[in-house]
Amino acid sequence: MSDAKRRVVVTAALPYANGDIHIGHLVEYLQTDFWVRFQKMRGHECLYICADDTHGTPVMIRARSEGVSPRELIARSYEQHIKDFAEFQIRFDSYYSTDSEENRAFCNMIFAAMERSGAVSTRQLPQLYCEKDAMFLPDRFVRGGCPKCGAGGQYGDSCDTCGQTYSAEELKDAQCVMCGEAPVTRESEHLFFELEPFRDFLSAWIPKHTAPDVANKLLEWFSEPLRGWCISRDAPYFGFEIPGRPGKFFYVWVDAPIGYMASLKKWCGENGQQFDDWWTNPGAELYHFIGKDIVRFHCLFWPAMLHVAGVKTPDQVFVHGFLTVNGEKMSKSKGTFVKARTYLDHLNPQDLRFYYACKLNGTTDDLDLNLGDFVSRVNSDLVGKITNLASRGAQMLHKRLGGKMGAMDAEGRALWLAACGRAEAVAEHYEARDFSKVMVEVRNLADTANQYFDTQAPWALVKTDPEAARQVMTSVLNIFRVLAIYLQPILPVYAERVAALFREDPYQWADLQKTVEDTALAPYAYLATRVEMAAIEKMIEAGRNERMFS
Ligand code: 2FM
Ligand code: ZN
Repeated sequence: MSDAKRRVVVTAALPYANGDIHIGHLVEYLQTDFWVRFQKMRGHECLYICADDTHGTPVMIRARSEGVSPRELIARSYEQHIKDFAEFQIRFDSYYSTDSEENRAFCNMIFAAMERSGAVSTRQLPQLYCEKDAMFLPDRFVRGGCPKCGAGGQYGDSCDTCGQTYSAEELKDAQCVMCGEAPVTRESEHLFFELEPFRDFLSAWIPKHTAPDVANKLLEWFSEPLRGWCISRDAPYFGFEIPGRPGKFFYVWVDAPIGYMASLKKWCGENGQQFDDWWTNPGAELYHFIGKDIVRFHCLFWPAMLHVAGVKTPDQVFVHGFLTVNGEKMSKSKGTFVKARTYLDHLNPQDLRFYYACKLNGTTDDLDLNLGDFVSRVNSDLVGKITNLASRGAQMLHKRLGGKMGAMDAEGRALWLAACGRAEAVAEHYEARDFSKVMVEVRNLADTANQYFDTQAPWALVKTDPEAARQVMTSVLNIFRVLAIYLQPILPVYAERVAALFREDPYQWADLQKTVEDTALAPYAYLATRVEMAAIEKMIEAGRNERMFS
C-alpha cells in the first residue's frame, strides 16, 4: 500500500426518513464507519457522507396519517436518526437531507443533461388510481389477490406466496391500502430514462467497479434490451417538481443518490472547500457502501446518470449482504427486528460494533447475528481475552507499584515487536473491508500476550522481584496498546479510553512506532463489561412489542 496521502469520499446508503434505524441498517453504517475511521487513522483525507432519504409517497402518507406536514415529519426523524447514529459511535462528516436546495440544483443539472442527450422519453402509462385519496397508488399501496396463485393480501408488485412478479393492474380485487376502496386504472404521461443508449458504457463500467459476483448478476440483464427507467411521479408527491413539467415530480430514487453529492456540497460549503476538488477531481476516490437490494440503482441507473452529465462515477461500489438473526430473516413477531434505540436501551453499542466486525468479511454474504454467539464473543473475546490484559495489568500496576510503568523486558519487547509486525497485514484487512480478519489478528495477539502474562505470573513475582513484575506489566500494557490501536476504527471510544490511560491523544496508525515506558498511568477507567443473556432477552421482548416503521 502506498503511503501517499489519499483523498477519499465514502458514502453509505441514505436511510428513509419515514423509518427508524434498526440493527439491519447498522450492518452498513458500522462497516462504513470502520473503514472511514481506518483511512483517517492512516493519515488520509477521508469523508463519511450520508443524509436522510426524505422524498416519496411513504413519507407523504405517514405524515398525513400523523397529521403533520412531510417537512415536520422529516425534521423529527432527522433528529432521531442522528442521535441513534451518534450513540453507536458512527461519525459522519456530513449528514444532510435530500430535501435541500443543493440537491434540487444537482437534480436539475443532471436531468437537463439527460434530456439534452436524448435519453429521456415520454410514454403513457396505465396505473392504479384511488379516487377517494385522489392519487396514483405505488405498488406498496395496493393489495389484492395474486394473479397467478390467487393468494390474497398481496402487494402490487410481487406475491409473497408464489414469488411471481406482476404489475399492480393485474391484481384481483385490488384495494387501496389507505382507504380500502377499489382503485381504478388511469393513464398518465411519464418520463423514462432510457438505458439502452448506455449499454456499451455500462457493460464496460460494471465489471471494473463492482465485485465479480455483483457484476455477473447485473450483466445477466444485458442479454435483452435494457428497459427504460420511469423517473417521474404524479402529484401529489413529496419531492422535487420536474422543471418544465408541472405536476410531475422526480421519483425518489432519482434524487436519493444525487443526495450524496448534495451532502458533500454542504460539507464543502461549511469547510471552505470546492466540491470539484473532492468529487470530480480524478485524483480523489469515491466509494459507495450499499446493500445488495439496491445494486440496480447504484450500478445501472446511477453511473448512467452521472456519465451523461459528465460527472465522475464512483471508483467502486461495495456491496454487502443482509442481516439475519439466529439464522433467520429479522422478524417483527419474533422481536428480532430490533430498532437501534431499543438496542441502546438494553445493550452496549460497542458490543454490536465488536460483533459485526468479527463477522464482516467484505463479501455479499449475509451476516448472522447469533445471539448466543454474540454473548460468548463479547464475554470471552472482548472482555476475557482482550480487555483482561489491560484490566489485570493496569490494576495490578496501580495497586502494587504506584501506577508507574517501567521498561519492557526482553521477552516482552520481542512480543511487542511481533505485535507491531502485524500492522501491514491488519491494514490490508481493513483496506479490503475484511474486518473479521482484523479480529483474528487481534485475538491471536491477545492469546499470546495472555500466555506471556500467565507464564510470568507477575502477581507472584511482585512479592519477590517487584521491578521484574513492573517490566512484565509494562510489556503486557504495551502489547495491549498495539491491540487498542488496531481496534480503534472498530472501538473508537474504547481506544480513546486506552489512550487516556496512557495519557495520550486518540491514536494514529503511526503511534504504533512508539512505546509507553517509564511513565505514570492515569487511573484505570472501565473499557468493556460482560453482556448477560437476560439483557438480550429483555431487548427481544421489547422488540416484539414496539411499533415499527421501516
Ligand atoms: O433503500 C433505501 O433504504 C434507500 N433509502 C437508499 C437510498 S441510497 C441512495 F441512493 F440515496
Ligand atoms: Zn384510497
